[in-house]
Amino acid sequence: MQNHSVWSLDRKKVIITGAASGIGLAITETFLELGATVLMVDRDQKALDLEKTRLLDLGFSVDCIVADVTQANDLQAIVRKMESFLGGLDVLVNNVGMNIRKPTLEYTAEDFHTIMSVNLESAFNLSRLFYPWLKASQQGPSIVNVSSLNSQRVIRFTSAMYTASKAALEQLSNFLAVEWAPEGIRVNSIHPWATRTPLAMDAFHKNPDIEERIQKATPLGRIAEPEEVARVAAFLAMPAASYITGVNLAVDGGFSKLGF
Ligand SMILES: NC(=O)c1ccc[n+]([C@@H]2O[C@H](COP(=O)([O-])OP(=O)(O)OC[C@H]3O[C@@H](n4cnc5c(N)ncnc54)[C@H](O)[C@@H]3O)[C@@H](O)[C@H]2O)c1
Repeated sequence: MQNHSVWSLDRKKVIITGAASGIGLAITETFLELGATVLMVDRDQKALDLEKTRLLDLGFSVDCIVADVTQANDLQAIVRKMESFLGGLDVLVNNVGMNIRKPTLEYTAEDFHTIMSVNLESAFNLSRLFYPWLKASQQGPSIVNVSSLNSQRVIRFTSAMYTASKAALEQLSNFLAVEWAPEGIRVNSIHPWATRTPLAMDAFHKNPDIEERIQKATPLGRIAEPEEVARVAAFLAMPAASYITGVNLAVDGGFSKLGF
């Protein structure tokens, strides 16, 4: 007989960054549907308020905090909110990410700092900040980092620094998986390929034929919906994935496996 509770996020206390839009919002919805209590973190107050109200109306256990994950004071505010709303932490989803699409020679020092602090440093800081609560968790603690297929492949219409930041995030993930395994904290990452979100749509608008080219280059013949990525993040956080750590799971419709 299968134990169905391992396929659930029941009783999990979860923080999700970049939760007001795209993949982060889909992860929030999926985790809530699977029984988790979620603290949504985002810097976009309007979108956050709108989504929180909608999710509360649906009866879910959810709250939010407006915070910029690159700001030390905001990180402390997230800790306080975690203590008052969640009273502990079982799962941290480092989903926040952004891109500055420019040729490498046009990158400024500020661009470099922005992209690295949002895509990499925030995951490093938040993982360290929440380590004591994850270590104390009795609910199979884990971290899920949202990387990108760009971590391993060169996709010309993105940017060198986005690619580098995601590769570094995956190695951070791998290192923490090994370093924190004795504490029972599992650390995994997912790398999505093109997914229908505002971040991707921005790139599509600037390259009108890109969606068609992506469809042709992807064995499953289409881009991903955010929920398809969210379900993989949910699986990695479940008791069902209790022996999985240090994995970088592609959610890419077969894109990375296509040869000729
Ligand atoms: N959409 C894709 O095709 C795709 C592909 C591969 C990887 N990803 C990754 O998935 C993750 C989510 O991407 P998305 O497409 O859903 O993006 P999105 O732009 O739709 O959502 C990102 C969210 O993060 C928030 N955010 C940005 N900077 C922040 C900051 N400093 N502090 C707090 N919140 C901040 C934004 O307000 C927004 O709500 C990112 O890490 C991205 O790199 C996306």
